[in-house]
Amino acid sequence: MRHFDYKDGEIYAENVPLRTIAKAVGTPVYVYSTATFERHYSVFAESFKGIEALVAYSVKANSNIAVLATLAKLGAGADVVSGGELARALMAGIPAHKIVFSGVGKTRAEMRDALRAGIRVFNVESEPELNVLNDVALEMGTKAPIAFRVNPDVTAGGHDKISTGKKENKFGIAWSSAEAAYAHAATLPGIEIVGVDVHIGSQIDDLAPFEAAIAKVGGLISRLRQAGHTIKSFDIGGGLGIPYGDNNKTPPPPSEYGQMVKNLTRDMDVEMIFEPGRMIAGNSGVLLSEVLYVKKGEDRDFLILDAAMNDLIRPALYDAYHDIEPVLAPGSDAAEATYDVVGPICESGDTFTKGRDMPALKSGELVIMHSAGAYGAVQASQYNTRPLIPEVLVKGDKFEIIRERPTVAEILKSERLPDWLK
Ligand code: LLP
Repeated sequence: MRHFDYKDGEIYAENVPLRTIAKAVGTPVYVYSTATFERHYSVFAESFKGIEALVAYSVKANSNIAVLATLAKLGAGADVVSGGELARALMAGIPAHKIVFSGVGKTRAEMRDALRAGIRVFNVESEPELNVLNDVALEMGTKAPIAFRVNPDVTAGGHDKISTGKKENKFGIAWSSAEAAYAHAATLPGIEIVGVDVHIGSQIDDLAPFEAAIAKVGGLISRLRQAGHTIKSFDIGGGLGIPYGDNNKTPPPPSEYGQMVKNLTRDMDVEMIFEPGRMIAGNSGVLLSEVLYVKKGEDRDFLILDAAMNDLIRPALYDAYHDIEPVLAPGSDAAEATYDVVGPICESGDTFTKGRDMPALKSGELVIMHSAGAYGAVQASQYNTRPLIPEVLVKGDKFEIIRERPTVAEILKSERLPDWLK
């Protein structure tokens, strides 16, 4: 259930008409539903009832501190990939012992901040990174808890750009070097081995690649234990896909994913760690936008929105599908139309969809793009000097702005003329 549905002829976010938000905040704007975040988190967490598990929400999917605080209240941990995300997670009240730090290029400063905070585990992606982490930990008179992110060489993920678990991807320690990497880590006085980590891709719509990765890692865990290493945790990353409303395969529900994980890891004697991002945030948010113009082209009609690729880049970057609906329910006799839905940016790539059949719309009408809660606002830019659009969080019949729309003056404030141009 999306909590963004028609009621009395118009779309509401929970109990707030989207028209009210558009009027109060202006468009374009991201609108999130607290109830949906809570529901997705609980459904996911409950599918692991009965086993030791940490759900470390992948902050990159939607990192607004109000979103993180909503999840923190439910007991969520966090998967962070930068010092900035670490700061957000801590600020939102996620305890350090529930924070895991992933990413292929951690800096010394980020390692220091994470060690000072006392995070649960560093997911280390290379031996050079391990050596630097060892140095930093020793300088600070401490030990860094680590898991190696291993690359199991399985194919998964909805698009080439978001597939990460194949050997040609930059991620993780090569499968064939994993045991040697653990042997080396065991010799380092600033390092404490605690687990194994994988993340094979994103928008995965079938369980088979997860099963393949879990089976491979299960074997690795046995071999590592035989070699004398202590493996307490198994982090299987994120990646479970969500329905986007197109005709692609529908991903399995979290309950099936949970059952599969429980079955396959039953005898492993590990604490499981999960890093879901999209599954929690994707359908918890929409992008609310106004139709600026309907333009008749030579052979097609363009619906020109006030939102653009800088606000939601997924269609341009991954050919992603987002459901588009008018905020006012079309009457039963409403005319149908076929549109290329585009933004105002000066690039042909600024196209949300081509040849989409939908109710005919007029300038000034509101539309939403569904499934924009994950990898929407976080991937936005100010290209064409378009201010980052605001984010609004709804809870029941209340809503608040959780990130303001900057003014153009605020954007320009950080730029400087060099002396010779003054
Ligand atoms: N853990 C790690 C180490 C990751 O790299 C990612 C996502 C996740 C967890 C969360 O994966 P999820 O559960 O959200 O699939 N911008 C792209 C998605 C990039 C995913 C990057 N890594 C998109 O808009 O589709």
